[in-house]
Amino acid sequence: MDNRAIGVFDSGVGGLTVLDDLINHFPHEDFIFLADTKNNPYGTKSKAELEEIVERNIKYFENENVKAIVIACNTATANSYHLHPQVPLIRIIEPTAKRALEVGKKILVLATDYTISSGIYQNFLGDRAIGVKCSKFVGIVEEGLMGTEIAQEVVRSHVEEYKGKVDTVILGCTHFGLLTKEIKDVLGNINIIDSSLSIAPLLKEAIKDNNQTGRGKVIINTTGNPNNLKISWFKKPIDEIKQVFIS
Ligand code: DGL
Repeated sequence: MDNRAIGVFDSGVGGLTVLDDLINHFPHEDFIFLADTKNNPYGTKSKAELEEIVERNIKYFENENVKAIVIACNTATANSYHLHPQVPLIRIIEPTAKRALEVGKKILVLATDYTISSGIYQNFLGDRAIGVKCSKFVGIVEEGLMGTEIAQEVVRSHVEEYKGKVDTVILGCTHFGLLTKEIKDVLGNINIIDSSLSIAPLLKEAIKDNNQTGRGKVIINTTGNPNNLKISWFKKPIDEIKQVFIS
């Protein structure tokens, strides 16, 4: 029995799509989610900046005494391979690429500018992959503009040219699941592999069940102003939401 919480982090609200799925799979676990909005967006930062941010977030969770850390962010995952914390560290890219390889012949990878430039998805997928830099989608989601004409236009301008040329699309940024409708409206009926839904099987292997029966506690911490988080779409109960200062 291990009642410690599970730490989950992203640059902002996108990672809550991961948390949402994890709460569905592990309703009795306690979660601490870190929305590092002070440093959002991650996807246009340099490798050196991102390595420092990721290291600092992992130290933060070690100090919080969590039993596992989930990197609910593809961009951060690409900068995490040098880190080996005491507790299990769950990364999002490899399981997502594996899921895509099971169904896709020609795979469109939509991810942040950094993730695409790093070539990490292409390394896992080989010549089946076409990468498109979509950091502009991140701001749309942070601003809560899903479903608007602005969102439709930004998505259309990035993906339209691939219509009919791919059979599978990877949402290689945890913000992009919230734009699934806009993406489907342009690309039509293709396989969608949302990276946000890749974590649960790995977390199951990594943690011991805490044997509790009640609802787990959900804490959302942010490095920015909690009042600015656009999370009305997140329907799970939140027990606490507050600003934290991480150095
Ligand atoms: N949600 C993050 C990802 O999965 C990145 C968003 C950002 O650029 O901050 O890559």
